[in-house]
Amino acid sequence: MTNLPQEMTFIDHGAGGGPEVLVPARAPVPAPRPDEVLIRVMVAGVNRPDVQQRSGSYPPPPGASPILGLECAGEVVATGSAVTRYKVGDKVCALTNGGAYAEYCAAPEAQTLPWPAGYDALRAAALPETFFTVWANLFGHGQMQQGETVLVHGGTSGIGVTAIQLAKTFGGRVFATAGSDDKCAACLRFGADAAINYRTQDFAEEVRRLTDKKGVDVILDMVGGAYFQRNLRSLAWDGRLVLIAFLGGFEVEKADLRPIMLKRLTVTGSTMRPRTTAQKGELARGLEAKVWPKLAAGQFGPEIYRSFPLAEAAEAHRLMESSAHIGKIMLTVAP
Ligand SMILES: NC(=O)c1ccc[n+]([C@@H]2O[C@H](COP(=O)([O-])OP(=O)(O)OC[C@H]3O[C@@H](n4cnc5c(N)ncnc54)[C@H](OP(=O)(O)O)[C@@H]3O)[C@@H](O)[C@H]2O)c1
Repeated sequence: MTNLPQEMTFIDHGAGGGPEVLVPARAPVPAPRPDEVLIRVMVAGVNRPDVQQRSGSYPPPPGASPILGLECAGEVVATGSAVTRYKVGDKVCALTNGGAYAEYCAAPEAQTLPWPAGYDALRAAALPETFFTVWANLFGHGQMQQGETVLVHGGTSGIGVTAIQLAKTFGGRVFATAGSDDKCAACLRFGADAAINYRTQDFAEEVRRLTDKKGVDVILDMVGGAYFQRNLRSLAWDGRLVLIAFLGGFEVEKADLRPIMLKRLTVTGSTMRPRTTAQKGELARGLEAKVWPKLAAGQFGPEIYRSFPLAEAAEAHRLMESSAHIGKIMLTVAP
């Protein structure tokens, strides 16, 4: 245990609202539970679920920190009594249950990973949320296999970039959708085999053309209702649709369900945050074994669009809500 201050700066979102509610405030430094490490946060990641939590539509699960922030990288400064792997001074990144928009954040040991070799805090902090989510959904629920074709919607979102990279590195043929020609060019840079500007092209028509009418094996979708019918149309026999968000609405007024039966489709989805520590720990072990070596080898890596000082979290959220970014938005807390 190092000499820790009693209090820390964190970003308060008060009773919720627009980005302007995000202001620096003071709170006690959290005490780690027996299975947690306390991290001195160097960099935290900004994710779309933070925007939803800030605006009041995504409350934290019971027992989680009410402070925003689902991922960070930094240095271990204290360990709970049951922690076995990490010691004070270790450089780690963590999928947190909340609380990363702060100088100190407690996270379960099981959800904590070492920085990939050669990484700094900025790049390490950009990993957990998107890698845990894509690992669980593309390869877990989506059952993506080598040689399959994958469609990633929101190809330049934090999640989308990671999905393109992982699908590609594990042997997929990858198509991505995005909202501008510049974003489509970025998808190709990240490794996509084809990119579809959904504002100027019908993605279902393009998928049909690109696959000789066969369709894709897996779709990772964050748009939801607005894409549902076209997603069903775009899937091949035995295809899997994995829903991870509803940026385009969670209702479908009218749908033709026949493709599900006729093509033996699977419609599934999940959220990351309510999973148990044991479930998240299993994902962490899979990532460390299968993905961390590839990150260390520089085969691909996080795409950081911009980072802001912690005190400018409101600006970071404004940028995220503008959807002008390509890749990750970060908050730098301390060197
Ligand atoms: N289920 C889970 O476990 C889980 C975990 C983490 C995140 N998520 C969700 O995954 C999504 C991506 O998260 P992120 O942090 O990577 O977000 P992000 O970086 O902010 O990216 C979201 C992107 O989606 C696109 N978009 C926004 N509204 C759209 C619409 N109506 N139709 C089509 N595309 C739209 C935008 O790009 P364009 O310019 O291309 O439209 C935007 O840049 C979020 O909805 C988040 O809540 C789910």
